[in-house]
Amino acid sequence: MISAQSRPYIDASVAVLREHGVTITTTFYRNLFAEFPDLRNLFNMGNQANGAQQQSLAAAVFAYAANIGNPQALGPVVERIVHKHVSVGIRAEHYPIVGRHLLGAIAETLGDAATAPLLAAWDEAYHSLARLFIDAEQALYAKSGTTPGQTRTMRVTEARRESANVVAFRMVAEDGQALPAFKPGQYISCAVPLATGERQLRQYSLSDAPGELGWRISVKRETGGALPDGQVSNWLHAHLTTGSLIEVSHPFGEFTPDTESDEPIVLLSAGIGITPMIAALNRIAQVQPQRHVIFAHAARDCAHHPHQDDVEAARSRMLNLQVLTFYEEGGGALAGRMDVDRLPRWPRGETNVYLCGPLPFMRAQWMALVEAGVPVTRLHREVFGPEMLDYLN
Ligand SMILES: Cc1cc2nc3c(=O)[nH]c(=O)nc-3n(C[C@H](O)[C@H](O)[C@H](O)COP(=O)(O)OP(=O)(O)OC[C@H]3O[C@@H](n4cnc5c(N)ncnc54)[C@H](O)[C@@H]3O)c2cc1C
Ligand code: HEM
Repeated sequence: MISAQSRPYIDASVAVLREHGVTITTTFYRNLFAEFPDLRNLFNMGNQANGAQQQSLAAAVFAYAANIGNPQALGPVVERIVHKHVSVGIRAEHYPIVGRHLLGAIAETLGDAATAPLLAAWDEAYHSLARLFIDAEQALYAKSGTTPGQTRTMRVTEARRESANVVAFRMVAEDGQALPAFKPGQYISCAVPLATGERQLRQYSLSDAPGELGWRISVKRETGGALPDGQVSNWLHAHLTTGSLIEVSHPFGEFTPDTESDEPIVLLSAGIGITPMIAALNRIAQVQPQRHVIFAHAARDCAHHPHQDDVEAARSRMLNLQVLTFYEEGGGALAGRMDVDRLPRWPRGETNVYLCGPLPFMRAQWMALVEAGVPVTRLHREVFGPEMLDYLN
C-alpha cells in the first residue's frame, strides 16, 4: 500500500512514465551495470541488446503506477515476474541496489520535473512493490527447497535433431540423484559460460512429461540474418552433445496447463512455442488418454516442425485428440497461418485455452479468441521473452 500523501504524485506520473518509461529503464540499466558489472551475468544481455527488457521493465513499472489503488490487478503479472526472478536467482539484497538506480534514472530523465515529493512518492512505491516481490520470492524459494542462484549439474544423455533448427537435449542429474517434480509448462534456466567470459542464463521449457528419462529441453537455434546470432541457443547447439555437462536451475514457471483433469482442453502453439504444449500433451497421454484435446500448431513448413513423433505417439493413444497443423509454406497441412475459425468448435465458456508462440502469433490469436467468445479467464499464455503486456489491456 502507499500513503495518501504519495498517492497523487504516483497518479500524476502515469502519463509521464508512459512518455519516458523506456528512456528511464535504459538509463537505469546503463548506470546499474556501470556500478555492478557482475550483474550482467544475471541479466539477459540479448534482451538488453534488442530492447525487449527495457520495454518489459517499463511496462511493469507503468502497470504498477496505473494500478496503484488496485494491486490485485497485478497478481498474474507479479507471479510471472516472481517465477522468472527465482529461476535466475534474484536475492532480497538486490532490491535496494535496483531501487537506488531506478530512482536515480527517474531523476536523471525527468530533470527539473523530478521534484523532491515526486521522488519520495516513487521511493515509497518502489519499496512497497519490492516488499511484495521479496516476500513472494522467499516463499517460492522455500517451497522449491532451493536457495537463490542454486543450480544443478546435469549430464546430457541424448541430443536429437528435431527439425531444421531445433535440437532436443535429454538430461539427467550428474550425481545420479532423482530429479525434483515439475509441472508441464514449467521451464529451467540454463547457465552457459560464453567465450566473452560472461555467464548467461536463458529459460527453456521442459519439453516432455516428467518421467524416467530425465528432463528434456528443445532449443531453437536463433540465427538473426542481419542481426547478431543468439548467444545461448548457438552455444547450446555448438557445445552440447551426449555426455556434456550443463548447469540448470530448478523448474519454475506459472504457465502450467491443467494436465490432470478430464475436462476438454485446447493447446495452441506456433514455432518453438510447441515445447510446453508437447510436455502437456505427453502428460495427458499418460494420465488422461481419453480426454478431449485440441492440439493445433503453426509452423513455417514441415522441415521447421519439431516433435512430430511425439504428436503421432500421442495420437495413437488418445482417441479424442484432434490435431491440426498449419504450414505457411509447402504442403502437407492446412495452408497459411493459424485461424481460430478453422479450428473445431469447443464450448467457449468452459474450456481452458493455452497459447504459446512468438509475440505476433500471441497478439493475433489472443484477439481472435476473445472475439470468438473465449472469456479471458479461460485464456492462458506463455511468452518466450519478456512479457510485453500490451495486447492484454
Ligand atoms: C519462459 C521461457 C521459455 C522458453 N522456452 C524456450 C524453448 O523451449 N525453446 C527455445 O528454443 N527457446 C525458449 N525460450 C527462449 C530462450 O530463453 C532464449 O530467449 C532463446 O534461446 C534466444 O536466446 P539466445 O541467447 O540464443 O539469443 P540472444 O543472444 O538472447 O538474442 C535474442 C535475440 O535478439 C537478437 N539480437 C541480439 N543482439 C541484437 C542487437 N544488438 N540488436 C537487435 N537484436 C539483437 C538476436 O538476433 C536474437 O534474435 C524460452 C524463453 C522463456 C522466457
Ligand atoms: C520492484 C522491482 C522490480 C520489477 C518491477 C521488475 C520487473 C521485471 C520484469 C517485468 C521482468 C520480465 C519478466 C518477464 O516477463 O519475463 C523482470 C525480469 C528480471 N529481473 Fe526484475 N524487476 C524488479 C526487481 C529486480 C531486481 C532487484 C533484480 C536484481 C538485480 C532483477 C533482475 C531481473 C532479471 C535478471 C530478470 C530476468 C530477465 C533477464 O534475464 O533480463 N529485477 N523483472
